[in-house]
Amino acid sequence: MPDVRDSFRNVAVNYTRSTFHTASARLQEVLDLARPQKGDLVLDVATGTGNTAFALAPFVRRVIGVDLTREMLNEARRIAAERSIVNTDWVIGDAASLPFQDDTFDIYTVRAAPHHFADVDRFLFEAFRVLKPDRDAVFIDCAPPVPARDVLHEVEVRRDPSHVMSLTVEEWVRKLGRSGFEVEAAEARELDWNYEEWMHNQAVAPDLAAELAELIESAEGEAKVQLHPVRRDGKLWHAYWHCLIRAHKPG
Ligand SMILES: C[S@@+](CC[C@H](N)C(=O)[O-])C[C@H]1O[C@@H](n2cnc3c(N)ncnc32)[C@H](O)[C@@H]1O
Repeated sequence: MPDVRDSFRNVAVNYTRSTFHTASARLQEVLDLARPQKGDLVLDVATGTGNTAFALAPFVRRVIGVDLTREMLNEARRIAAERSIVNTDWVIGDAASLPFQDDTFDIYTVRAAPHHFADVDRFLFEAFRVLKPDRDAVFIDCAPPVPARDVLHEVEVRRDPSHVMSLTVEEWVRKLGRSGFEVEAAEARELDWNYEEWMHNQAVAPDLAAELAELIESAEGEAKVQLHPVRRDGKLWHAYWHCLIRAHKPG
């Protein structure tokens, strides 16, 4: 089993600049789902360089960002200092074994990370455990429809060996229900995806990036329709999906 820290420790700075991770439209999605309130204590799991935590921080009491990779948290800490953000804390920890007591947080968020988690049921158990009753959690992660996923899975694993699996929205909803959550909103949002930047974020070698582009461009049938790869000025763009989920812990 690859160590996820090996995938992120040398590329941390890329995640402070990535269009997907930092775009205001993407961060607005988090705010729309989380509906933060002034007094809230927020846990942002697999916070990376803190993009999601920073989006929430102005609207809440405090945000704690948890991540396994120290170098990612170092970037978050640097940015917080640069921007004089004083209501964030950064903690090394595992989504599957959170170092917090039961019923602690008003909001739980996780974005662009569960596809790395080996045990999704365990991570959901922990999300449910640390969230206060009658409060909400936000789950955003890559979530392609099945035919596209069948093609993207190999691309994902060869791009970043710590990728485990992207769930579809339907799979998310089933798992959340089994974990005790009531799903309030769940949709898949499609983006026009900049393949080159995606590869750059993980510093993929040019030869491998070309090989993986070929996998996407040679997709057939339903997967090809879904991915609709296209070259613009020689650069590959294709469809990519995320689930946008708000789930409630009953009171
Ligand atoms: C793409 S980055 C996260 C991006 C960030 N959530 C954002 O919104 O910009 C993925 C992060 O997941 C972290 N990660 C992966 N598995 C983890 C786990 N089991 N527990 C905590 N963090 C984990 C990695 O260290 C990495 O920093």
